Amino acid sequence: MWKARLSELEFNERELAEVLETIDSEWITSGPRTEAFEKAFARFTGTREGVAVSNGTAALFLTLKALGVGPGDEVLVPSMTFVATAAAVIHCGAKPVLVDISTLENPTMCLDDASRKITARTKAILPVHYAGIPADMDGLSQLATTNRLHLIEDAAHAPGARFQGRACGSFGAAGCFSFFANKNITTGEGGMITTDDPALATKLRLLRSHGMTVSSWDRDKGRPAQYDVLEFGFNFRFDDIRAALGLAQLDKLELLNHQRAELVQRYNRKFSEAGLDVILPFASIPETKAPSYHIYPIVLATPEERDFVAERLKIEGIQTSIHYPPIHHFSAFKNTGDSVNLPFTEAFASRELTLPLYPSLSRSQVDQIVLTVQDALAAPHDRRTMSGLH
Ligand SMILES: Cc1ncc(COP(=O)(O)O)c(C=O)c1O
Repeated sequence: MWKARLSELEFNERELAEVLETIDSEWITSGPRTEAFEKAFARFTGTREGVAVSNGTAALFLTLKALGVGPGDEVLVPSMTFVATAAAVIHCGAKPVLVDISTLENPTMCLDDASRKITARTKAILPVHYAGIPADMDGLSQLATTNRLHLIEDAAHAPGARFQGRACGSFGAAGCFSFFANKNITTGEGGMITTDDPALATKLRLLRSHGMTVSSWDRDKGRPAQYDVLEFGFNFRFDDIRAALGLAQLDKLELLNHQRAELVQRYNRKFSEAGLDVILPFASIPETKAPSYHIYPIVLATPEERDFVAERLKIEGIQTSIHYPPIHHFSAFKNTGDSVNLPFTEAFASRELTLPLYPSLSRSQVDQIVLTVQDALAAPHDRRTMSGLH
């Protein structure tokens, strides 16, 4: 149906072979491949430990839990994120305090707004590397240190992204990654927590599997069958079939991110050549940031223009999305009765449009997408009604 989808899988024979080999090995749950994937991912991110979990939401929730975030605590999160970032805080019994983005060009957590929102109850800062654009980690790290707060990175969009040469996911107490199907590398569902703190990693491993002192894989390796439960935990385990996919995907990550970068440069160039009134967040990235180019957001001049362009792209078979409807617009948040004032998030959310981006998207598809946006914006204003489209 779509001529250009928002994202596509980058799987080939390698993923297939690794999965078949895992099934042949007759060990499909958490075992040797999960351990190998954890080690490889931690090495890639430059952290001492990697703890694989069932998804990115579990990574966030478990990290907050393991760091002792609970009732009465506040956690600073951007409103411009996927709902999971705030939900993880809520499920710990704590309160997400919503922070604005810096600007429409830099849709990551605003340092000034974050500092203003720190109270005696604040326990952690949880920035998101939106679209794979590293948040301003120098200022945010400093803010966390000065106020003795945990810094946790929501790095779901940012495997391979770097800030001042250092990998996203290696700055704070922990980095939380997602391997959902649309992510830069995917295992279908899956997540990873990276940390330099071995005690935190031990606690995360314990909580991930019911607080049990011995795992099935340990028992298979000959460890005693008896176990204790040190703390009531969860089943947030990863499995070896997904680890097989993860290992194959991780090998390609740098190449895939490089291909994404090239397509983003082409998008940026074509948009500026067209001279359109659109903001391109990826066109104003400072040299200190090396993004992972997870999605390609543009910001139109008005909400009406955004909706009109999205509709025109859809008619041409080009899939788009909105990243994101902000947390504070959801009924679940409104029901908390908290009021917020987030002017940049408001403007960004009402005017943002996400265009297709994945490594195998062709250059001519990029050109065609920009041309379609250009045509839509050239339509006379009085014809910009949905009924005028047909
Ligand atoms: C910014 C952000 N945080 C957290 C998550 C949650 O990850 P998952 O879908 O793997 O639970 C996602 C993924 O969709 C995300 O985009």
